[in-house]
Amino acid sequence: MAHTPKDFSNILGKLKGISDNQLRQHFTLYEGYVKKLNEIEEKLAKQDKAAANYSFGEFSELKRREAVAFNGAFLHEMYFENLLSKGAPSAELKKASEAAFGSWDAFVADVKASAGSTPGWVLVTYNKVDQKLHTYILFEHHVGLAVHQEIVLALDCWEHAFMIDYGIKKADYLNAFFENVNWDVANKRLSAAKLAAVKK
Ligand SMILES: [Fe+2]
Repeated sequence: MAHTPKDFSNILGKLKGISDNQLRQHFTLYEGYVKKLNEIEEKLAKQDKAAANYSFGEFSELKRREAVAFNGAFLHEMYFENLLSKGAPSAELKKASEAAFGSWDAFVADVKASAGSTPGWVLVTYNKVDQKLHTYILFEHHVGLAVHQEIVLALDCWEHAFMIDYGIKKADYLNAFFENVNWDVANKRLSAAKLAAVKK
């Protein structure tokens, strides 16, 4: 079944320090990943699997890029969904951040330091193994994604996410990101993640 890009125009004109021009171009880029995901899935369905080959093969190349397009599409959805300066961190999220990082400020500092360590994504996750919050960094969209994680917050640190508004001043973009987090979304994701951990 083909994937359809979601409409995130509800956040236009509502963010602090992240312009509509920046967002519109980012939406277009996200839609490109959805298109490529559909293309890869369509082509994979028609490939000769007997021609799979580690060095080169059409099937093999498509498999190697499948997770790039998939995560490129769905990480962007999580990012846009967790933007919209709304609510406040719940007591549950504060408690989890303090348990994992020592304090809320130390948690925020860890997210920012993680952002400074990757050209790609920072994911704040609920780790179902130790049942704590973690921050993981990704390269491309799929390299570095640890297993047994439920994503609580997705932070796009690719340059396309901030170059229009901030040039190379990534630290200023990170401040803007924290000004715009939709904490209602992050709080709900954490609660759902903890339930998933119980079921595991
Ligand atoms: Fe992006």
